[in-house]
Amino acid sequence: MDLLDSAIYPLIGEQPFRALVAAFYGQIPTDELLGPLYDRRDLAGAEQRLGDFLIMRFGGPDLYLRQRGHPRLRMRHHPFPIDQTRRDRWVELMERALMETEIPADVRRTLGKFFREAATFLINVEPAGK
Ligand code: HEM
Repeated sequence: MDLLDSAIYPLIGEQPFRALVAAFYGQIPTDELLGPLYDRRDLAGAEQRLGDFLIMRFGGPDLYLRQRGHPRLRMRHHPFPIDQTRRDRWVELMERALMETEIPADVRRTLGKFFREAATFLINVEPAGK
């Protein structure tokens, strides 16, 4: 059975989320598909925002809400053209980060499923010629 999303933070705490987003963002600067989308001067801020969001989403404190307001992720990703290829790369980097981070296997499965679905939901560009 899948773990309840809100049970994850109480189970693993903050550190694995911070380690996960650090491992993810560590790959961004050299990624030729995703790197150009991110502001190099604020990667630490981006890491903080994603970490805060995930902690809130999975049952932890609502730091994200207090700093950034309601997530509205589709709206916030509107400035970045996300096609299937970029979606797939984002998921690939996150799955690699998940493997590098010490997270129990059942939690990893739940997070992985969430990432794949959320990333698909954020696609906002149709393939050319469609
Ligand atoms: C599908 C491919 C994706 C791409 C190309 C992408 C790209 C980006 C970029 C360029 C930013 C701006 C960085 C910043 O300054 O915060 C961002 C922000 C963010 N992304 Fe994504 N993203 C993707 C998927 C996701 C997914 C699946 C999630 C949810 C787990 C997510 C959650 C966030 C959050 C929470 C922020 C910060 C929003 C804010 O408060 O401004 N992104 N994303």
